[in-house]
Amino acid sequence: MSATQTQSQVSSSATERQIIGRVISVAGATATIELMYAGNSVLDASRATVGRFLGIVSGDVVIIGMVTDISEQSQSRGIKIAHIDLFGEVKEIDGTAGFSRGITEYPAIGDPALLMTNDELRIVYGDGHTNVQIGSLRQAPQINASINIDELLNKHFAILGTTGVGKSSGVAIILQQVLAARPDLRIFLIDPHNEYGRCFGDSAQVLNPRNLRLPFWLFNFEETIDAFFGRRPGVDEEVEILAEVIPLAKGAYLQYRNASDRPLAKRRDPKNAGFTADTPAPYRIEDLITLIDERMGKLENRSSRMHHYRLLQRIQTFRNNPRYAFMFENANVGGDTMAEIISNLFRLPANGKPLTVMQLGGFPAEVVDSVVSVLCRMAFDFGLWSDGVAPLLFICEEAHRYAAADAKVAFGPTRRALSRIAKEGRKYGIYLGLVTQRPAEIDPNIISQCNTLFVMRLSNDRDHALIRSAVSDAASSLLTFVPSLGTAEAFVFGPGVALPMQMKFRDLPQSFRPNSDVGRSGNADADAGSDLIVSVIERWRSATMSQKHHEEDAYDLGFAPPVQPQILESPDSVRARFVKGPLDRTGLGAPNLPRSWR
Ligand SMILES: Nc1ncnc2c1ncn2[C@@H]1O[C@H](COP(=O)(O)OP(=O)(O)O)[C@@H](O)[C@H]1O
Ligand SMILES: [Mg+2]
Repeated sequence: MSATQTQSQVSSSATERQIIGRVISVAGATATIELMYAGNSVLDASRATVGRFLGIVSGDVVIIGMVTDISEQSQSRGIKIAHIDLFGEVKEIDGTAGFSRGITEYPAIGDPALLMTNDELRIVYGDGHTNVQIGSLRQAPQINASINIDELLNKHFAILGTTGVGKSSGVAIILQQVLAARPDLRIFLIDPHNEYGRCFGDSAQVLNPRNLRLPFWLFNFEETIDAFFGRRPGVDEEVEILAEVIPLAKGAYLQYRNASDRPLAKRRDPKNAGFTADTPAPYRIEDLITLIDERMGKLENRSSRMHHYRLLQRIQTFRNNPRYAFMFENANVGGDTMAEIISNLFRLPANGKPLTVMQLGGFPAEVVDSVVSVLCRMAFDFGLWSDGVAPLLFICEEAHRYAAADAKVAFGPTRRALSRIAKEGRKYGIYLGLVTQRPAEIDPNIISQCNTLFVMRLSNDRDHALIRSAVSDAASSLLTFVPSLGTAEAFVFGPGVALPMQMKFRDLPQSFRPNSDVGRSGNADADAGSDLIVSVIERWRSATMSQKHHEEDAYDLGFAPPVQPQILESPDSVRARFVKGPLDRTGLGAPNLPRSWR
């Protein structure tokens, strides 16, 4: 049946169809219906329960609303009342029936209310050409649940729900559809639990510490400090030395490239090269060491010498640690590899794999934050400098860890990078998708930019309050059902759907389900055996070798109780993370002390 037929049928034959009630009052965007329990209508009327959509035929428009409560009037037994929130209307424009949000014509007293037919639901939830199907409607399983990809991406989205409700499976389903519908789009997925390795078949490149190349010189100053000092606040004096020598080392590298036959000592004035400690330009760690060593040689003051010495030790230990090979050995072959690295990370050209799954599971815990920060920042900067020629969807799982409102939980630079993507990303074709079980803990400036929300089962009151404030009044009555949602079920609000949608994600075949390579439901069959052991040991080591381990990480990954941080510096050094230096540090905010350092 065509849309036009449907519409005209709705409006013209209201009398022939089963009218289940009539409007008895209208106030703002809500209407009250008296349900009629007479003759043949009894069955239909009794189906008009909370959460169902009704159509009110008003002139040549069908106003769509959802039942928010029904009751029987006690004083006059037999009269049943339904309150409905009005969302939008189906009307004929240029000969075709279409759905539009918002009400232009309000119902009048006496207008008939009908249960929506499946065809009407189809008009509302649409199969437009930018729509993709991700499941079915909860109230009518035979109807596809579709989302508008362009709206979903352009206005960012978030998937919220407690652990185990099917968020990651939902992400896999959405991304599989996005991959099919938008071949021009690149996707970068932050995968903290190494779950997504098998979800996208050959379409994904899977990165881990063994095959990632992320040279240390791509780290900006804050990230470098965070890495060198293993997630702890830097020692003021050492940070100051680094702030001065890193730009020099970058200058030295440039000179070195220009006249590679001359030794470091004779290269002239790297100071004028104009680099800051944040410029993503290559330098050699050996030059950094030489520069610090030279400075130390000229010093009289014993305590200054000591700071230089300690810093040298720190850098050397870091550099020689095989677990940081992804930042050093492997990463630095070939000099200025930035172009190569960016084209590999963000899939330009895609070479058949437009999606990158960035598995964080095996990274040393104390550099994970800075690695994520570098990646978020590069994603944004790439969009910025390329003027959005290569659209990218950045998906962040466990977003409450990276975008936490609490400065003690999130690494400042990561949160700021995500915040830039959230606020300005769409201008440059960088879209954001957040996934979290604790939405209320996310920086409100970031979560509020995610306009389409997939709300799955959630039981925490703070999370409910947050979502309530984010969705329209008319839709918020659906939220009372959120605690009762089943696995894979979601309410979808926002521009990605025509109307608030109650849906169930389609069933994801076992082999494409997000599943940690280790543990939980992982099956340790013979083939997977050796991989499994390697991956277990990798995670085990990352957890126990770290100098500092977030309590949350331990909880989320199912690890043993957190390892106590080893305090190597005097408590005084914890005082401040950054000292005054030649860098522009506007916007650095308060020092980000990890929780256990308070
Ligand atoms: N769409 C789905 N299709 C099939 N199974 C699902 C689906 N959603 C959830 N599940 C089941 O629920 C489990 C938990 O889902 P998952 O996506 O990992 O939840 P979350 O990411 O919210 O913790 C999965 O292992 C799977 O068995
Ligand atoms: Mg998950």
